[in-house]
Amino acid sequence: MSNSLWPDTAQVEGNSISLAGCDLGRLAVQYGTPLYVFDEKTIQQSFRAFRDGLDAYPGDSTIFYACKALLNTAIAQLLDREGAFFDVVSLNELLLLRHAGIDLRRMRLHGNGTPLNELYRAVNMGIGQIVLDNQAQIDAVATVADYVGRKQPVLIRLAPDITAGSHTHIQTGQKASKFGFNNARMAIKRVQAKPALQLQGLHAHLGSQIDDLTMLPQLIAFLHDTAASLDMPLQELCIGGGLAVATHPSGSTTDIAAYCKTVVTQMRQIFGSQLPHLSIEPGRSIVGRAGVALYKMVGCKTVDAHTSWLHLDGGMGDNIRPALYGARYHAAVVDRPRATPIHTYHLCGRYCESGDVLVKNMRLPAMQPGDVVAIPSAGAYTLSMASNYNGIGRPAVVLVRAGQHYLIQERETIADIIKRDRPLPENIRS
Ligand code: LLP
Repeated sequence: MSNSLWPDTAQVEGNSISLAGCDLGRLAVQYGTPLYVFDEKTIQQSFRAFRDGLDAYPGDSTIFYACKALLNTAIAQLLDREGAFFDVVSLNELLLLRHAGIDLRRMRLHGNGTPLNELYRAVNMGIGQIVLDNQAQIDAVATVADYVGRKQPVLIRLAPDITAGSHTHIQTGQKASKFGFNNARMAIKRVQAKPALQLQGLHAHLGSQIDDLTMLPQLIAFLHDTAASLDMPLQELCIGGGLAVATHPSGSTTDIAAYCKTVVTQMRQIFGSQLPHLSIEPGRSIVGRAGVALYKMVGCKTVDAHTSWLHLDGGMGDNIRPALYGARYHAAVVDRPRATPIHTYHLCGRYCESGDVLVKNMRLPAMQPGDVVAIPSAGAYTLSMASNYNGIGRPAVVLVRAGQHYLIQERETIADIIKRDRPLPENIRS
């Protein structure tokens, strides 16, 4: 398909859409809906585009996959195979990666409110790096590192006061952000005073869905100038993630090669021959376009000549992004993708909330209950933010590769959901 919202292997063949040679309609029948289908090749190619782009960097570089975008065992293993490092935000993400066989030294822990026990476990297990976000965290990590007798490699996260990103909820570079230090001098001094911490460098992440590459020189210059003005040796510099990925034809996608080229050029220009280790943390740009969500149409309500609600069997429980950020998505009918659109539908979810609308104003052919709708570019921050609202289990996930499909995450069942519940004790039951 020429449309860049779809995975690399997407094809329209006759009356079907396939990914990696697997017919989406058949996958929907075999695994049920809602179903998330991931194209291995698109994930691989996206990761390799970063790798190839950073090959031009004369210093060392590392790509940390931001697990918050999408995480399960198979996805982690796939990226591990490609040589990824991993950025985690919780002990549980770390433990899942360890379960997937990932070396702790290839992980970095982030977060503004990470509890002490999680910091302790991470340090004790030997996590590669911790990105320090605030004063309390400097003290906490120093205390636990000292306690376990480890010199913990750390970076300091700064708020560079650069506003970027498409929605206030996903902007993180501004001074008023909850993330990172505004006072670099204070943070650096505090870390340097802790013998159990090994300060390796500076970190900043401006936010998400950033399609403006002109932010990069500003960011790199900020980190360089901060370190230089404070006489801090800068072994490593991390510029976070945040590349935009379109989820609708009106959206924009940051070209990975162009992003890397801008970064490499700026690093060379600003640092000259004293190039630090460069790290980046892309999430969405690796998995976003690789994932297609499949839903079944359950029914339809026509309100007037302009409004027809098309009820789908999933919605905000598996993709909260339209409700939370006003994100716009696109859709196609899997068994007649090229049929002439004759109606405008709002594709709404099944959840008991009026804001549960996945796609607004979508032109589609006449629809019948049972039709399967595919929403492309649904791979990032959908499953990872999914909930059990209305008691509905989270979707199954399938990976497709060279004509084969593999179930990589089971559909959540009622047994999974009630496993955590405990009955009211007999003595207070009646
Ligand atoms: N590094 C740090 C420190 C981050 O906070 C994030 C994302 C990333 C890297 C990866 O950013 P990416 O390349 O994926 O844009 N739930 C929101 C996005 C929240 C992003 C949180 N941090 C959404 O659905 O748009």
